[in-house]
Amino acid sequence: MAGVRFENVRKVYESGYVAIQGASFEVRNGELMVLVGPSGCGKSTLLRMIAGLESITEGTLSIGGRVVNEVAPRERDIAMVFQNYALYPHMSVAQNLAFGLKLRRVAREEISRRVAHVSALLALEEMLERLPAQLSGGQRQRVALGRAMVREPSVFLLDEPLSNLDAKLRLSMRAEIARLHRRLGATMIYVTHDQVEAMTLGERIVVLRDGEIQQIDSPAALYDRPANLFVAGFLGSPAMNVFRGRLRNDAEACLELDSGEAPLPLGAVPEKIRALAGRNIAVGLRPEDLRLDAAAPRARSDPPRLIGQLDVVEPVGNEIFVYLRYAGLELVSRTAPRSLPPCGESIALSFDPARLHFFDAQSEKRIVTDPSKNVPR
Ligand SMILES: Nc1ncnc2c1ncn2[C@@H]1O[C@H](COP(=O)(O)OP(=O)(O)OP(=O)(O)O)[C@@H](O)[C@H]1O
Ligand SMILES: [Mg+2]
Repeated sequence: MAGVRFENVRKVYESGYVAIQGASFEVRNGELMVLVGPSGCGKSTLLRMIAGLESITEGTLSIGGRVVNEVAPRERDIAMVFQNYALYPHMSVAQNLAFGLKLRRVAREEISRRVAHVSALLALEEMLERLPAQLSGGQRQRVALGRAMVREPSVFLLDEPLSNLDAKLRLSMRAEIARLHRRLGATMIYVTHDQVEAMTLGERIVVLRDGEIQQIDSPAALYDRPANLFVAGFLGSPAMNVFRGRLRNDAEACLELDSGEAPLPLGAVPEKIRALAGRNIAVGLRPEDLRLDAAAPRARSDPPRLIGQLDVVEPVGNEIFVYLRYAGLELVSRTAPRSLPPCGESIALSFDPARLHFFDAQSEKRIVTDPSKNVPR
């Protein structure tokens, strides 16, 4: 078992393209770390550098405390599962599992022991004699995982290992990988562009954008305290509502929206935010924090209220996503199924000011507020 440590690692491809800019982070021994970000942000590049399939332009990469910049892939004690799992089509499941060990001249009894152990763990025992073509997609994926597992590496690298599977299989394989991680206690680095997969699997998540690390944190912390607008918008589905405008401090704080409509009342916001009056900021509100209100008379102490127009309602089983128009913006609320006025009608919306996220309009960075006044969940 081993941890992986990046210190100021840069990757510049021969074309001159900078794929990773100064990455510094550590994957702890036994941790399941997820790398997530949009296509082309450098996830596979990072993983391939750990595997030794890609050179490191600058900086230091260590595995288990040993600097491996110049260490050959086969001496790194890692195993990688690629997106296109590429099983050997003419070999049976058992032969596919054993092949890497044979190449490494592992003793025959040891190979049998490991193949038996791994095929029991992955429920492949019944299909050891079959060819890959005789397996379902999920079963093939398990064989690909098994091929990495028989190696008993100190670090597992998984590059979008579930992207070829249908939605249902993805779910069950995702649970399988989480279980496997618990059982093996191995260090795993898992790449995906799917934010739901990242949130459900990762103990911690690295969010990447254009080769730059945006934030590294637990899923809950990323969701509750996104470091910038990019992370705020990338994690969470539907994405966070964002209001942009100039902060005004009347009796109550409010936001003069860029869209030029009547100011959005913000209610009781922290002093630190009130002090930013006159500045341009972005205010975020998660869809589950935008409430649809029954039209009740308003008391002074009530949360701020706005009136939106119902646009589209998307039922997704146990929840509904309600899309609304407000001050030229499209907002979305996520709520339990309920009866609603017809589309096009007005509806009252409200929110708890403590659920607002504040970002600087220019730098897009989170404005950190006193946690006792702006409590994360
Ligand atoms: N050999 C190469 N030469 C030049 N540029 C490359 C090379 N390989 C990758 N890149 C570029 O580096 C960037 C990062 O690529 P990478 O494969 O790491 O992205 P990714 O985050 O894994 O994306 P995806 O989700 O699409 O797999 C991309 O812009 C890509 O075009
Ligand atoms: Mg990739």
